[in-house]
Amino acid sequence: MRRGQRLKNWMNLRFPAQQTSEKHWSKYYVAKNLNIWYLFGMLSLLILVNQLITGIWLAMMYTPSIEDAFASVEGNIMRDVSAGWLIRNLHAVGASALFMVIYLHMFRGLLYGSYQKPRELVWLIGMVLYVCLMAEGFFGYVLPWGNMSYWGAQVILNLPAAIPNVGDSIATWIRGDFVLSGITLNRIFALHVIAIPLFLVFFVFIHLVSLHHVGSNNPDGIEIKKHIDKNGIPLDGIPLHPYYTTHNLVGIVVFLIIFFAFVFFYPDGGGYILEPANFEPANPLKTPSHIAPVWYFTPFYAILLAIPSKLGGVIALMSSVAIFCALPWLDKSPVKSMRYKGILSKIWLTIFVISILTLGVIGATPLDHALLPSISNQRFAQIMTFFYFLYFLLMPFYTAIENFRVPPSRVTRGHQ
Ligand code: HEM
Repeated sequence: MRRGQRLKNWMNLRFPAQQTSEKHWSKYYVAKNLNIWYLFGMLSLLILVNQLITGIWLAMMYTPSIEDAFASVEGNIMRDVSAGWLIRNLHAVGASALFMVIYLHMFRGLLYGSYQKPRELVWLIGMVLYVCLMAEGFFGYVLPWGNMSYWGAQVILNLPAAIPNVGDSIATWIRGDFVLSGITLNRIFALHVIAIPLFLVFFVFIHLVSLHHVGSNNPDGIEIKKHIDKNGIPLDGIPLHPYYTTHNLVGIVVFLIIFFAFVFFYPDGGGYILEPANFEPANPLKTPSHIAPVWYFTPFYAILLAIPSKLGGVIALMSSVAIFCALPWLDKSPVKSMRYKGILSKIWLTIFVISILTLGVIGATPLDHALLPSISNQRFAQIMTFFYFLYFLLMPFYTAIENFRVPPSRVTRGHQ
């Protein structure tokens, strides 16, 4: 027996490496009709790894104190440390890229009903991941202690103060001080570099374990496990490896070309990845002319500002995220994929996409800078928030009454 094989046998007796890799990779059967929408899970994983690795490097050179944080990022990392600029750009552009692919990943779920039975838990764990990512993105943005970091943190960490009676005490408890201070920055640092990354890694693991337990969905939204051969292998399934690993490589290369174009030539993304106000150190006496979060939070920021009362805004903001968790139970359609759902589902999904994109634009625009001639941005945001919520709240009705097409029993190929 060759030495390599002997080592493999020795290992297999003691650790289920081969068994695990077969179960989750080379003998994990997925439908043969997966399309580009199935690329973004793997891309999220890839960027998450990039964030973890570049993040460790940045943490070695970053100083979490309000006196030195800005200089350690803009001075030390960006100018003095060799290739520090590259590591920082990979991390900052990586954050935007991660949200971009996560939004596409979530949209795939809406398109093909991947949240429906039996994948409710995969979806809910995905939502836990999304909330962790929101916290991670927000805390990361505060760390350079630029002026937008400071004022962004000021707005967001003050939101709990909207709760009647106990709000101020909660906000003080969260900040660890009566104002934003070094204590706040230190705890944000600890959460950003230790606590939330641990949660993320743990929940990604659970996300994939639960997905592989029930099996992946597909663009037809039909269960491939219903048609199996005499060995128990789905007739419409092909192994994840080597078929989709090589297939996804093409998408990964295209993604990397775009990603590195940003990293090398356009790292601030025209002010959308790194905002201009964040190239100035934090200044508690100088509010930036327009406080807006990074692009991936602007729809939620617009929802927050749409409601005139602060408490109402906070409730609307939290509900706009939480309502995604109810999707598996709001969708009453007997079919999963948009390919076979009726016209009402298609119209409402389009309305939802338009509303969230419009809210994103409104959230990125100064409030006094009206986007439409005869209507204030706040009123515009209210209308779009209304349609955003209607998509979810009306779902039990339009999915129950619309005419749907009966899906084929076996997966189809060749169309999106
Ligand atoms: C760090 C964040 C995340 C990572 C690394 C991740 C990774 C993955 C991977 C690798 C897959 C399998 C490949 C694929 O189907 O694309 C997957 C599937 C899935 N993910 Fe995520 N995911 C993340 C966040 C989310 C979020 C935020 C949601 C939604 C709330 C979500 C919902 C799903 C669903 C429903 C599936 C199964 C889809 C299907 O079979 O059609 N994931 N995820």
